[in-house]
Amino acid sequence: MSLCLARLARPLRLARSPVQRRLESTAAANLRRPANKLRNGLIGSVAAGSVAFAYYYLTDTRSAFHKYQVVPLMRWIYNGDDVPRAQGGRGDGAEKAHEIGLKALRGLYDIGLPLRERGQHDYLGTRGMGVELFGHHLKTPLAISAGLDKHAECIDPLFSLSPAISILEIGCITPRPQVGNPKPRMFRLPTSDSLINRYGFNSIGADVAAIRLRDRVRRYAHKHGMSEQEVLDSEHIPASLWENRLLAVQIGKNGSTSETDIEAVKRDYIECVQKLGRFADIVVVNVSSPNSPGLRSLQKRESLQQLLSAVVEAAGKTERRRKPKVVVKVSPDSDSPDDVRDISAAILGSGVAGVIVANTTVKRPSQILASPQTTEEEKRIANKEFGGLSGPALLPKTLQLVERFSRELGDKAVVFASGGITSGHDAEEARKRGAKIVMGYTGMVYSGVGFWGRMAGEMKGILEGHA
Ligand SMILES: Cc1cc2nc3c(=O)[nH]c(=O)nc-3n(C[C@H](O)[C@H](O)[C@H](O)COP(=O)(O)O)c2cc1C
Repeated sequence: MSLCLARLARPLRLARSPVQRRLESTAAANLRRPANKLRNGLIGSVAAGSVAFAYYYLTDTRSAFHKYQVVPLMRWIYNGDDVPRAQGGRGDGAEKAHEIGLKALRGLYDIGLPLRERGQHDYLGTRGMGVELFGHHLKTPLAISAGLDKHAECIDPLFSLSPAISILEIGCITPRPQVGNPKPRMFRLPTSDSLINRYGFNSIGADVAAIRLRDRVRRYAHKHGMSEQEVLDSEHIPASLWENRLLAVQIGKNGSTSETDIEAVKRDYIECVQKLGRFADIVVVNVSSPNSPGLRSLQKRESLQQLLSAVVEAAGKTERRRKPKVVVKVSPDSDSPDDVRDISAAILGSGVAGVIVANTTVKRPSQILASPQTTEEEKRIANKEFGGLSGPALLPKTLQLVERFSRELGDKAVVFASGGITSGHDAEEARKRGAKIVMGYTGMVYSGVGFWGRMAGEMKGILEGHA
């Protein structure tokens, strides 16, 4: 066979015309000339340098590109309502942008080009930045709150974004899969950097989430020559599988489970703990989503205490040495002194370790339409679309509730602040009022993946007295 090919090749070589041969030898001679060698070397170096620069610049979360190009571009491309045009809708919108954003983060991570914050991260060593939480040392008090990675599909790419992220809360995960509310169900109010969503617990279900979480543990165990159970039982490896960082898994009930049947409700949450608890440092009980009808009625003292006690008991039985702590997430709309007192009593009576204050609101603070730049579409969305509002307009309520819950709970439970926190100043204000952990979500949607490092940098300035 190779002989035949050699025979075929010879006549082909001979078949080149004299002109062709002359051209080839001129080209070869040109390449050998010192001036041309230099020029080609320069072009090669510039090309390689540009690729290296693009790589370093574009994969650095601190680059202005992410805030000033990626965020507006995503809004411009995905400007519909997520209802297909064939069904009378306006095509891909905010929900699709969310999905594509996570896919891009995951894809880049999988091919070894994760987005990450380059540089010194000198905020990590700042005095007063670190916190002790549930026996772990965290280098910052910052956390990503639930709803960003609902389906446990982007855990490592999100932790990779910045060492400023100490906790990632995934979910909400329900025991059985469910599709959530019909689309459209997510709306932007860009003039006030706010969102309204009514996803309604779209979830892949606890079984699939457990497979994803277990797969991470198995891969980690394989890489480090350990067994799966050794990883789960290690005193030194948090469930996040990232040093000094924690994974919180948020759980909820299925829409088909009546909130008035407290035994059925307990079964839903317990099933989630049994399937997911061993992969979590923290289990978050969601009784505060405004988008699951009746859910928030579970915040009434008696039912809440029963539910939380059942979850705490189930968490105590998970198959890992260090059991997950249980935290409850409450609504900012349950804000009367009586509500705060009742919820706090249920927390203290059930042995829950903390409270996240708070979820999105069904209220529409006037601030969201205050700017003269507010468009007619934004006014329509704010007035007509049902769902939970998030973004800076929540901050005053968050701060007020953090203060109230901190006063009620003292040092018996940890307060996590969530709602409208978009700067280092907001974070420090929440900490001053008693929050130990400060969570964000909508701030990242509007300011890009550099959000966490920027916020930690601003906190450093405040802690050192420069800001
Ligand atoms: C699109 C979207 C989905 C959310 N999904 C959940 C969820 O599943 N569970 C939950 O407790 N909170 C959910 N939240 C609320 C956030 O976790 C957070 O509490 C709220 O947005 C307030 O914080 P922020 O103003 O920093 O965004 C969601 C928020 C948004 C914008």
